[in-house]
Amino acid sequence: MRPKLIAVGVGPGAPDLLTLRAVEKIRSARAIAYTANRRGESYARTTASGWISPEAVEIPLPFSMSPDRAARLQARREAARRIRSALALYGEIVFLTEGDPLLYSTWQHLLPAVARNCEIEICPGISAMSAAACASEFPLAIEEETLIVASAASALPRLSDWLAQGETVVLYKAAKRLGEISSILDAAETPIRAILVERCSDSSQRILTDPKSWNDSERAYFTIVFLKAERPEKETAHEN
Ligand SMILES: C[S@@+](CC[C@H](N)C(=O)[O-])C[C@H]1O[C@@H](n2cnc3c(N)ncnc32)[C@H](O)[C@@H]1O
Repeated sequence: MRPKLIAVGVGPGAPDLLTLRAVEKIRSARAIAYTANRRGESYARTTASGWISPEAVEIPLPFSMSPDRAARLQARREAARRIRSALALYGEIVFLTEGDPLLYSTWQHLLPAVARNCEIEICPGISAMSAAACASEFPLAIEEETLIVASAASALPRLSDWLAQGETVVLYKAAKRLGEISSILDAAETPIRAILVERCSDSSQRILTDPKSWNDSERAYFTIVFLKAERPEKETAHEN
């Protein structure tokens, strides 16, 4: 039988925001892999910890967020190598990934390196975008609206145009770009509704609606931003 690699999205952090399918996959896993930092910490593993069997073999994998591309590639290659060896040993592995597996996820980097000789299954998870939008009551899209989801770094050159066109914008990986985002909002011709959600679904979750209170150095890596030009009240009222 071909070995099988199952990616399981564990949601944004709260242990009760896993799907029933995710819980079932984790509970029945004999071998569980996840990326961990140098201290061995893994957000995905912590989120799923209540459902990991004490008998399961755990496979922490190296992970690098270094600005040095070579260091990041090296960590991914090593992670893929360990997954391949573990697949040969255990036949089936559950890989835990934060949020949804196909949205800005480490899983997407590992997949091409390990997928050739094994079966793949992907179990969706609640994304940070969905959870944070619900937590902050920020409507993502309705009727014919467009929703733009981008990493903050790649969005910056186009952000003012998107907002001027009335698009709703979700910025992932926003923590280190808040100063630049605030400057764009200051320069916008129409008022922009701006919401920052930090550590969504965790007990330390924060929702900040005034960009003046956003501060790069204080925000956690788990920070997401929602932006949309305010609509004139008259227009909103007519549409009800
Ligand atoms: C590597 S991406 C993981 C995205 C994840 N796969 C998803 O589906 O949402 C990490 C980025 O997701 C966002 N993020 C993930 N979890 C979050 C949370 N609990 N609260 C706020 N933002 C979060 C942040 O923008 C963070 O920089």
